[in-house]
Amino acid sequence: MSVRRVRVELPDTAYDVLIGSGLLDEVGPLVRGVTRARCAALVSDENVAERYAIRVDVSLARSGFRVSSLTVPPGESSKEWSLAGELLEALAAKGLSRDDIVVALGGGVTGDLVGFVSAVYLRGIDLVQVPTTLLAMVDSSVGGKTAVDLPAGKNLVGAFKQPLLVVADVDTLKTLPDEEWRSGLAEVAKTAMLSGEEMLSWMEGNARRLLDRDPDAVIEAVERCVAFKAGVVAADERESGPRECLNYGHTLGHAIEKVAGYGRFTHGAAVAEGMRFASRVAVQLAGADVSFVRRQDRLLDALGLGALEVALPTAVLHDAMRSDKKARGGEVRMVLVSEPGTWSCVAVERAVIDEHLEAWAGTKSEGEGA
Ligand code: NAD
Ligand code: GLY
Repeated sequence: MSVRRVRVELPDTAYDVLIGSGLLDEVGPLVRGVTRARCAALVSDENVAERYAIRVDVSLARSGFRVSSLTVPPGESSKEWSLAGELLEALAAKGLSRDDIVVALGGGVTGDLVGFVSAVYLRGIDLVQVPTTLLAMVDSSVGGKTAVDLPAGKNLVGAFKQPLLVVADVDTLKTLPDEEWRSGLAEVAKTAMLSGEEMLSWMEGNARRLLDRDPDAVIEAVERCVAFKAGVVAADERESGPRECLNYGHTLGHAIEKVAGYGRFTHGAAVAEGMRFASRVAVQLAGADVSFVRRQDRLLDALGLGALEVALPTAVLHDAMRSDKKARGGEVRMVLVSEPGTWSCVAVERAVIDEHLEAWAGTKSEGEGA
């Protein structure tokens, strides 16, 4: 199977995203191609480490790196200030210098945490991302956003840190649990909505293959998403405009994750619910047609991302939406897609949010009290 290559071109740097099969064993030579570092810190979470770290470790060592392997516990709770501190201390204890490199092997949690650590250690040390979840391949490993969470909210401390290289070995996706797979598919569906008719039609025609993890369909989806994101990030690296589109579905999605408690739903499941919500707001505020809402609903259903059966207090959700990073002056701003490929970031009045949250809550039966 040939390796797909997407180039991310930014004003101050450029790097390749390589997508293919069997790439884990090639990480050493590939990293050697972009750095003269002597030492490499290889960081992964425990789930990923037990499956894949040894292959990457061996590959790096064969390419002449002195490798220090480090692991963190799996899950969002590892995107945490004190764990970032422990990793920083570990890098110092291993003697990593400015010329050395950090390799993040894992999902978005590992990529965000390790990316943040690499951004601040010695005021910045080179980073390679080796994503092992679909979400990380199509979204988080590309574009340079890194972060840790605070008790006050997700991703509240972070830095932009572009990697030197991204190596996405799609073979690793075979061991991903089903709900993590569907979580990644939500970000693929988000990209299809933002990208336009061509990708959306492709997704609709390939939803079954994607759900079944058909290797050719998976590679194509990853390549399409990375190419789309590369274009967005090239146009707006620091999210002062067009990059905001990547938050489609995230305003309610992040609120659901926070209010329900992190870990109750995957990030993608919450984002898919947020996309359903946003599409209904878009009918009222952005001229979206109801047929577009139905079309998106059908795609999400086909990807195994059915509407969430959850009832949460709407006032608390509203507050969480107002603390979203796009909010200005306490007013909720949402990315609204009016038709495939056409989006805007719109300030939504309090009363409109309330009305839609009530309608949304009315479709749920769990009965936690809205
Ligand atoms: P994750 O990193 O927690 O991975 C999900 C689970 O899958 C974990 O338990 C992990 O151990 C396991 N896992 C990873 N790879 C595996 C594999 N190949 N086989 C078996 N198990 C595997 O979660 P995620 O969904 O990848 O990432 C979510 C995070 O990404 C969130 O913190 C979110 O904020 C962040 N994110 C960042 C960006 C960005 O631009 N930086 C974009 C989107 C999401
Ligand atoms: N995942 C959103 C971004 O990279 O901007």
